[in-house]
Amino acid sequence: MTQYGDYQLEIYRAGVQGVLPRWPVDFANLEAAAAAAMPRWVHSYVAGGAGDERTQRGNAEAFGRWGIVPRMMRGEPERDLSVSLFGLDLPAPLFLCPIGVLGICAQDMHGDLATARACARTGVPMCTSTLSNDTMENVAAALGDTPGWFQLYTPRDRDVAVSLIQRAERAGYSALVVTLDTWVTGWRPRDLNTANFPQLRGHCLVNYFTDEYFRKLLSKAPEDDPRAAIAMWVTQFGNSVGWSDLEWMREATNLPIVLKGISHPDDARRAVDLGVDGIYCSNHGGRQANGGLPALETLPDVVAAVGASGEVPVLFDSGVRSGADAAKALALGAAAVGLGRPYAYALALGGEDGVVHQVRSVLAETDLIMAVDGYPTLADLRAEGTIRRLPA
Ligand code: FNR
Repeated sequence: MTQYGDYQLEIYRAGVQGVLPRWPVDFANLEAAAAAAMPRWVHSYVAGGAGDERTQRGNAEAFGRWGIVPRMMRGEPERDLSVSLFGLDLPAPLFLCPIGVLGICAQDMHGDLATARACARTGVPMCTSTLSNDTMENVAAALGDTPGWFQLYTPRDRDVAVSLIQRAERAGYSALVVTLDTWVTGWRPRDLNTANFPQLRGHCLVNYFTDEYFRKLLSKAPEDDPRAAIAMWVTQFGNSVGWSDLEWMREATNLPIVLKGISHPDDARRAVDLGVDGIYCSNHGGRQANGGLPALETLPDVVAAVGASGEVPVLFDSGVRSGADAAKALALGAAAVGLGRPYAYALALGGEDGVVHQVRSVLAETDLIMAVDGYPTLADLRAEGTIRRLPA
C-alpha cells in the first residue's frame, strides 16, 4: 500500500545531499510564488472570485473553525486511504477539480495535458473541464490508466450537449459531473476591472470548436471565422439546468451522473431521490456568488441529507489548501476531496512535475495526520466524534 507520508522522507533525504524542493510544500508560499511568476491576466483570473471575495476567503477560513481530536495508543505504521467511487477503486480520496483555464496556466498553453500526465503519475483522478485548450479525447489519452471524470457545462443546444456527453463516454471518462452553479457568470470585480474573460478571447473553447454538432450551428468553420464561433459559444453557454434535464441526460449516457454545486440539503435529497450517482458539494471556490456560506459549513447538512437516503458519495471542494483541510472534509463525511487553485498554481510554476509535487504534498500531510492522530483508515476518520467545531 502506498504510504503517502513517505514523501517527507524523500524531501529530507534530498536535503542531506543539498537538494531543496523546487516548489513550496505549503499553500501560502505556493500562492506567493505563483503570483510573482504568472502573467497578470492569467493569475487574476485564477485567484479572483465573486464580489469582494468574502465567501472565497471564508471557504479557506472555515477550516480553522473545525478541529480533529487526536487519539493515542493506536498509531498504525500503515494507513489505508483507498476509496471506492462510482465502481472505481482509487488509491486516495483526492481528485483534481475541473478548472477551465488550465490550458493557459501552463507556459506552453497545454496545461490540461500536463495535469492529466500528473494524474497518470499519481493515480489521482482528474475532473476535466468542458473549457479546455486540448480536446477531452486528448486529455483522456494522457490520463493513461488513471480515471478521468468529465465536467459538463451544459450547452443550450440539446444536440451539442448530448454530443459532448457521448464524446466523454467514448473517450473513456468514468463519470459525468454536471456543474449547476455557473449557467451565468458571477460578478467578478477583478475580471471586470481589467475586462478580462479568457474565453471571449478564444481560449479554452476547443471542445466546442471540434464538436460536430457545434460546428453545424456555424455558417463558417471556427478556423475561418473565430469571432463568429466565439459569439456562438456565448449564446450556447448560459443554460440553467433544471431537475427535468436529468431525464434526457440519463438517456444520453450510461455514465454515473454527479451534480456539482449542491449546498442545500433539500437539493441533495431531491437529487438522490431522482437517482443521481454522486453529489458534489461546492460553491465554486467563491467565484460565483459572494455572500454565501463557506462551503465547508454546508457539508455536514448535505452529508446528513444524502446519508439518510442511501449510499451516494458526497464529493467536496472549495477552500481546500492542505492535507489538514482534506482530512477535516473527510472527517465531516466527504467521500473524496477536490483540490482546486493550489494545483493550478503548481501547474503554472512547475508544469506536470509541479502538479505531482503539490498532489504528493497534500496526500503526505493527510496521511501523516491520520497517522499521528490515530485514524489509520477513512472509516476511522469518519467515525462519530473525530471532529469538533471550535467554540465561537
Ligand atoms: C474553476 N472551477 C470550475 N468548475 C467547474 O465546474 N468547471 C470549470 O470549468 C471551472 N473553472 C474554474 C476556473 C478557475 C480558475 C477556478 C479557480 C475554478 C471551480 C472548481 O472546480 C472548484 O469548485 C474551485 O476551484 C474550488 O475552490 P478552491 O479550493 O480552488 O478555492
